Amino acid sequence: MILTAATTDLFAFGEERLEELASAHASPFFAYDLAAAGERYRRLRRALPARVRLAYAVKSNPGLPLLETFAAEGAWFDCASAGEVSAVLAAGGTGSGMVVAGPAKSERDLQAALFAGARVQVDGIEDVARLNALHTGDRPLPVSVRVNPASGVSEGATIIGGGGPSAFGVDEEDLEAFVAEAAHHERVRITGLQVFAASNELDAGRLLTNHRTSMVIARRLQELLGRELDLVDLGGGLGVRYAVSEPSLDVRALGAGLGRVLDENPWFTGELLLEPGRWLSAPTGVYCARVVRTKVSRGERFVMLEGGINHLLRPLMTGQSFPTLAVRPGVGVLGGGAFGDLTDLLPTTLAGPLCTSLDRVGTGDLPADLRPGDVVVFGQAGAYAYTQAMTHFLSHPAPDQVWVG
Ligand SMILES: Cc1ncc(COP(=O)(O)O)c(C=O)c1O
Repeated sequence: MILTAATTDLFAFGEERLEELASAHASPFFAYDLAAAGERYRRLRRALPARVRLAYAVKSNPGLPLLETFAAEGAWFDCASAGEVSAVLAAGGTGSGMVVAGPAKSERDLQAALFAGARVQVDGIEDVARLNALHTGDRPLPVSVRVNPASGVSEGATIIGGGGPSAFGVDEEDLEAFVAEAAHHERVRITGLQVFAASNELDAGRLLTNHRTSMVIARRLQELLGRELDLVDLGGGLGVRYAVSEPSLDVRALGAGLGRVLDENPWFTGELLLEPGRWLSAPTGVYCARVVRTKVSRGERFVMLEGGINHLLRPLMTGQSFPTLAVRPGVGVLGGGAFGDLTDLLPTTLAGPLCTSLDRVGTGDLPADLRPGDVVVFGQAGAYAYTQAMTHFLSHPAPDQVWVG
C-alpha cells in the first residue's frame, strides 16, 4: 500500500518517520504517536455536546504514556480491573472520573474501585450485595447497573453479547425484579445505567439507534427506581476503518445526534457518558516487524515475519486484517516516494514465527520484491494489540513499545 492522503489515517506517523523508526529498531516493535492521541481526544471532545462525558476505555491500550496523555486532556477512564484502576491513578487520573466494569469482578477489583472512589457498574445482584458489605461510607454508594438490552442493538453487538444471552449485566426483562431486590441493600443506591451494544461501528446512525434504545431503558429504570438518574453510560464501540474501502465514522454526526437524543429526553437531567477505546487509541499506533523470508507455496505467496500472533492477535480472532505497508530501511515506503515505479503489489499471506498454522497475522497486497530485512508496518495497531496478544506463547521476546511525544 502506498501512503497517500487517503491512507494516512490508517497509519500513525508519516512516510519519512516510519522509515526512520523502521531503521532505528532491529526487533519487532510498536510505536505510538502521543501528540496524535491528544489531537484525537480533542477532536472527539469538540464534536460532542457538553453534557456528554468522555471516558477512555483503558482495555484498548493501557500504556502509561497514553493514559497520561488522556488524563492531561481531562478524560475520564473506563477500567475493567484493579490493575487498570492503578494504572489510571498512576497516570494522574482520578477516581471521580472513573467507571469500573466487568462481568466477574474479584474482591480486589471491587476494593480498588471503592478505594479510588470510582463509579462501579454492577452486573447483577451479587455485585450489589458485595458492595453493600464492603462500603463503609456514611452515605449510600451510588452505582450504575449494566443492562443487556432485549433488542434494538446493532449487528456488531453479537461480538459482545448485546441483544442475546450474555455474561454481562442484567437482562432487560429482569430489570424490575433486579431493582426490587437491590432496594434491600441500603448501603448501595442505583443512580445510573450502562449499556454497551456495539463494537467497531462505523455508522453514526446505527450507534445513535442503540443510544435511543438505551434511553428507553434509562427512562424505565428511572421510573422503577422512583428517582432521577445522574449518569447514562452509552458504552464504546466507535469504530475505525481497517481498510481504505471502509468509511470513517462521522463523529460530528454522532455528536449532533447525541444533542438530539438529549433534546428528545427532557426527563433526563443527568450526564451521558461515552467509553470509546479503539477510536481514540487505534490510529495512534503502528506495529512493525521485519521480513525473515518469503515463499510461494502451491500458488500462495507467504511472507514470514519476526512477529506473529504473539504480538498481534486480532486478525486471528476477528478474521480481519490490519492495514499494511512495507518499508525498506534506509530507502523508504515501498511503492511510494523513491519507489514510485514499484507498484507491483501481490496478494500476500502474512505469517509469524510460531510453530503453529494458527500464526497468521493477516493478508494484504504487498510489494512483489519484498525481501528479508524489509519491515512490514501494520496500521491501526494502537488498540487491542500489544496487550491482547499471546505474548508468551513459544517464548519469543515481547515487542518493544516506543512512545513518541
Ligand atoms: C464496558 C466497555 N466499555 C468500553 C469498551 C471499549 O470499546 P471500543 O474500544 O469498541 O470503543 C469496551 C470494549 O470491550 C467495553 O467492554
